[in-house]
Amino acid sequence: MPDPAQLDWSALDRLRATFLARDAAAAGPYWRDHDTLAAYDATYAERIGWKWDALLRELRLRRWAPPAGTVLLDYGCGSGVAGRRMLAAFGADNFAALALHDHSPEAASFAAARAASAFPALPLLDASPSRLLDSSTPFTLVVSHVLNELPPAAAEELVALAARATAVLWIEPGTHADSRALAAARDRLRSSHRIVAPCTHRENCPLFAAGNEREWCHFFAEPPPGVQNDSGWVRFAQRAGVDLRSQAYSCLVLERGAGVAADLPAAETPAAAPSARVLGRPEVFKPYARLLACDARGLHWLELPKRVDPALVKRLAKDPPTPLYALAHDGRRIAAATPLVAEPPPDAAPSGE
Ligand SMILES: C[S@@+](CC[C@H](N)C(=O)[O-])C[C@H]1O[C@@H](n2cnc3c(N)ncnc32)[C@H](O)[C@@H]1O
Repeated sequence: MPDPAQLDWSALDRLRATFLARDAAAAGPYWRDHDTLAAYDATYAERIGWKWDALLRELRLRRWAPPAGTVLLDYGCGSGVAGRRMLAAFGADNFAALALHDHSPEAASFAAARAASAFPALPLLDASPSRLLDSSTPFTLVVSHVLNELPPAAAEELVALAARATAVLWIEPGTHADSRALAAARDRLRSSHRIVAPCTHRENCPLFAAGNEREWCHFFAEPPPGVQNDSGWVRFAQRAGVDLRSQAYSCLVLERGAGVAADLPAAETPAAAPSARVLGRPEVFKPYARLLACDARGLHWLELPKRVDPALVKRLAKDPPTPLYALAHDGRRIAAATPLVAEPPPDAAPSGE
């Protein structure tokens, strides 16, 4: 974070009030000026960047990248953090151009200036979503924290864009409502696209099955080391009323084609141990861990007894692996849990923007 004295704290307070009221869509564009966007970019957007880092790390570990040569379209770009995180993770030369869309022209031009300074060789394309919808240009759609601000017609346009995209990477806040809204979009897009994340299957999303009304599909991203002791971040967290220890997010990653992501070894895992994703945060008690797993058969609240896998139960408490497992269970207890994603050694350097 830059020097806290340089930040426009009154702009941040104003933004906080807007986000809390959840009436941003009704009120129209709220980016007043460059200073508001700069203050947002250094704080709220950076925090959103940590969520992108977490998702992009999983994708890199799984050796998945969006197909090369597409236009990267950041829809509802704000200060442009999502597009920049994508370019840093996959390389600007993986994309033909960057297109930034926001109903606020101030936001789009702020994001364009930041992208041009970080990735000077990448062309910026002045392509509206409707122009991309009508063209045959292949594009990768990036969406970050936008859905709950969209009026119904714009939300429809966004789903139509996603249906046309070569690949989609989409992060929303990890709240009950936002996660379920994203899952509803997932159910509409699963016939045109392969689901890369978070799902290990392409059945109806089990969140919408009777009895699962209270559940939601969300994950947690850690801040980079040092953030929690940084006086600027501490002051921001107090004023914004956010907990910096972990940021909840929901996600959806799609690529054109049918089926579940090819990199998940579903075919190799025995039918008795289908691939599953663990949602939310497992609770770890002395003799067992309790977790919510999603697989092709639905959602299951499961116990993993410590005697079955003491090392994994210990890891779940402090440093959980990417939550993809071949999971053998009887609907109540786990008999075997094999992580599906190979993690690098703990001291491997993290990467960000
Ligand atoms: C919470 S901000 C998120 C910004 C950015 N994507 C990020 O992750 O930091 C929501 C963004 O959506 C934009 N937005 C809201 N309604 C929109 C609409 N109907 N069309 C395009 N953008 C919209 C807002 O201007 C704002 O930049």
